[in-house]
Amino acid sequence: MGCLGLVVFISSIQMHLLTIALGQNFLRQFCMRERGNYTNNSAYQANLDSLLSAFCNTTVDYGFYNSSAGEVKAIALCRGDLTPNTCRKCIGTSSHELRGLCPNYKEAYIYYDNCMLGYSNRSIFSINKLSPIYISAKLENFSDVNQTNQVLPKLLGNLKDEAASGSPLRKYAVGEATVGFETIYALVQCTPDLQKQQCTNCLDDLNVLIPKNFSEGKNGLTAIGPICNFRYEVYRFYQSRPDAPSSFPSPTGDAPSPAASNDTTGNGMQLNLHACFEYCRD
Ligand SMILES: *[C@@H]1O[C@H](CO)[C@@H](O)[C@H](O)[C@H]1NC(C)=O
Ligand SMILES: *[C@@H]1O[C@H](CO)[C@@H](O)[C@H](O)[C@H]1NC(C)=O
Ligand SMILES: *[C@@H]1O[C@H](CO)[C@@H](O)[C@H](O)[C@H]1NC(C)=O
Ligand SMILES: *[C@@H]1O[C@H](CO)[C@@H](O)[C@H](O)[C@H]1NC(C)=O
Ligand SMILES: *[C@@H]1O[C@H](CO)[C@@H](O)[C@H](O)[C@H]1NC(C)=O
Ligand SMILES: *[C@@H]1O[C@H](CO)[C@@H](O)[C@H](O)[C@H]1NC(C)=O
Ligand SMILES: *[C@@H]1O[C@H](CO)[C@@H](O)[C@H](O)[C@H]1NC(C)=O
Ligand SMILES: *[C@@H]1O[C@H](CO)[C@@H](O)[C@H](O)[C@H]1NC(C)=O
Ligand SMILES: *[C@@H]1O[C@H](CO)[C@@H](O)[C@H](O)[C@H]1NC(C)=O
Repeated sequence: MGCLGLVVFISSIQMHLLTIALGQNFLRQFCMRERGNYTNNSAYQANLDSLLSAFCNTTVDYGFYNSSAGEVKAIALCRGDLTPNTCRKCIGTSSHELRGLCPNYKEAYIYYDNCMLGYSNRSIFSINKLSPIYISAKLENFSDVNQTNQVLPKLLGNLKDEAASGSPLRKYAVGEATVGFETIYALVQCTPDLQKQQCTNCLDDLNVLIPKNFSEGKNGLTAIGPICNFRYEVYRFYQSRPDAPSSFPSPTGDAPSPAASNDTTGNGMQLNLHACFEYCRD
């Protein structure tokens, strides 16, 4: 029951799922069994199909999709630096994979390095939506943990403010800080429909949920929820920042993101709190 303290801690903020993995390739699905099934050839399935295929067909693209059909609601968010083509490709893959991984589930989520996608029959994508959460940390420490402990919170705090102050089309900020010979690259993002304060609250809540003994000193961390996320690494994992939503760079084709290939280090150890999920259900 090594995780009980954590579960008690997070269960005060309604239902939570929390996955923690160390240094593994970034990809996780959440099939919400307790939210019920739809049957084949039902209206639910038809609505879900049309929603997901509409996502991939969208031409005006700022990396955020939120729409509903019948009782189905769906949401998708791409990392803010992706081109529309790369974003659509990620969402297309996500849709396909998630339908296969969570067949007939009314509510399900999938998180990738480049995008997240979820659907439900509930109005789940509210301002307080914090679950399911995915957290992963690198195994190695920063080269100067003490110095980084001074610098990193300031960097993340600045990026949080910048992202939260973003436009209704994109709430995304990236930045870097140098400690000695090491450069830390960080990214912070909220779904752009959130108000400034809602974005700030989401990121603060997400940060609070990360066990400090898990993340402290580690030279890379990824924390993702349905409506906000942040990440830092000691290498540049994002593309240069798009200037503004209206000057989204032209599509670059189907090349996989360098970040995705860099994250497949798979360096061993994994701490998985799936066993704790049962305690988290409401
Ligand atoms: C963190 O501390 C909690 C108890 O406070 C413990 O249950 C957990 O195993 C620790 N996690 C790590 C990664 O050391
Ligand atoms: C959902 O589907 C699973 C597997 O097909 C089945 O075992 C379960 O009883 C279903 N649950 C509901 C609420 O229909
Ligand atoms: C969603 O579907 C579940 C299972 O079928 C049902 O119990 C629940 O009432 C539905 N929720 C909404 C908001 O329709
Ligand atoms: C629904 O359809 C899929 C694919 O056609 C099939 O694999 C699955 O068994 C069906 N599920 C049910 C509950 O009939
Ligand atoms: C999406 O595009 C495909 C191929 O062009 C088309 O078959 C499908 O009907 C479109 N879906 C929607 C919802 O527009
Ligand atoms: C999605 O759209 C609905 C309806 O317009 C809205 O209430 C909600 O705040 C939007 N955002 C999210 C993240 O669900
Ligand atoms: C880091 O800080 C701790 C506590 O402040 C101190 O004990 C330790 O010596 C410091 N380590 C280095 C390498 O400066
Ligand atoms: C990594 O940093 C943590 C937190 O400062 C420290 O407890 C741990 O001993 C460090 N591990 C190594 C291998 O330096
Ligand atoms: C991948 O990571 C390595 C070491 O962390 C770094 O040297 C390299 O530049 C990174 N590659 C990309 C494409 O970010």
